[in-house]
Amino acid sequence: MLRPAGDHRGAVGARVLGRSFERRDGALWCEGVPLSCIAEGAGTPAFVYGAHALRERYRALDAALAGVPHRIHYSLKANSSHGLLQVLRAEGCAADVVSGGELMRAQRAGFAPSEIIFGGVGKTRAEIRAGLQAGVKLLNLESAAELAIVEEEARGMGVRADIALRVNPEVHVANAHEYIATGSRGHKFGIPWGDVPDIAARAIASKHVELLGLDMHVGSQLMSLDPYRDGVERLAELARTLQARGAPLRYLDAGGGLPARYGAEDAPDLELFASIIVPVAAALGLELIVEPGRFVMAEAGVLLTRVLYRKATGGTDFVICDAGMSELLRPSHYDAYHAIEAVQPRGGTATVDVVGPICETGDFLARDRLMDDVLPGDLLAVHTTGAYGYAMALTYNSRPRAPEVLVDGSRWTVITRRETYDDLVRLEAGTLEWKEA
Ligand code: LLP
Repeated sequence: MLRPAGDHRGAVGARVLGRSFERRDGALWCEGVPLSCIAEGAGTPAFVYGAHALRERYRALDAALAGVPHRIHYSLKANSSHGLLQVLRAEGCAADVVSGGELMRAQRAGFAPSEIIFGGVGKTRAEIRAGLQAGVKLLNLESAAELAIVEEEARGMGVRADIALRVNPEVHVANAHEYIATGSRGHKFGIPWGDVPDIAARAIASKHVELLGLDMHVGSQLMSLDPYRDGVERLAELARTLQARGAPLRYLDAGGGLPARYGAEDAPDLELFASIIVPVAAALGLELIVEPGRFVMAEAGVLLTRVLYRKATGGTDFVICDAGMSELLRPSHYDAYHAIEAVQPRGGTATVDVVGPICETGDFLARDRLMDDVLPGDLLAVHTTGAYGYAMALTYNSRPRAPEVLVDGSRWTVITRRETYDDLVRLEAGTLEWKEA
């Protein structure tokens, strides 16, 4: 059932394939392992990641920033699975966390406290305490009220807290979706530009904190690098002012935001990126920090799903498969595009809606998409799902979360097992133990 219209962005193209995913004799492989073999062994749906792609992406960024002392703090929010953190840590990567849970994961993966920066707009007092107790490299603070809590906690613990101020440089950010822009005026993140001098003065004067860094994160999936240029220029101006006022600055943190290729987009120009931020940090004599999540992880992963049914209704041709919004929320939440192709194409194309089994009309992976024609039983690979896929997975409709599989060369291993029904009810009280008010 072919329809003339269709969402042709990057359709059925080789362009989206990172080096980890390639065709051999027509079938899609992850490095040296056929995806069909993983579907057989681990079941579907399943997330599959290629270790080579992960290493290559980390190394490419690291090499691009070579002109200045720097550290890549991988943003755990993109995907915090232990097996993947192991791969990155072995490469020399550091960590960026935004919650007590992520701090725990980073430490569990072996990152030293001096390799962890702790940001986030709503850290609780307990989380701040945990960061101080661990002795993280930097707490990135976002308000005067948060500074006051850090001062109190540091005083109570008899330590000096190493902090950075996350400022909102209030630059223009045009990216894929309004939900993932963060560095414009009026966003909840960062210290409003006009409030920074007062808060910085207070931090410089405080006996309980050491103002070591300035930080920004202007948005995610930044297709134009202009917001970095505009943002670091403002940060540099601020850094000079604060250095003149006695701030012992050591770090300039340009945040995350480098994009991944979801369809036919170009890969980000790392040389251009470096040419924007490296000279600024070098001129200030500061160590450059970046906090990429998506760039490192997204293209290293696919979501593997099996087609359950085809159903034609009301002029729409549905491909109903065993993964949906519970595995990959991005299409329904951000109207995000992910390239989808058959693991073993049988020839021909069709314009379809690829949907999951969830009881929501908003449960889709692609709409009006021209792609490989498929039949029940066929396997699909949903590309660029290494970041913000598993990390945002839900158990809605009481669907156990999918497993995660890591491939390295010709070997593969389950790094996160499939959730069981027992896992789903593990936190629920069997018999109710009431307490009197
Ligand atoms: N640093 C901070 C302070 C952040 O807020 C973020 C992402 C990052 C670093 C990493 O950004 P990245 O390099 O991954 O762009 N769930 C959304 C993305 C939300 C990003 C939130 N912050 C999505 O699926 O598109």
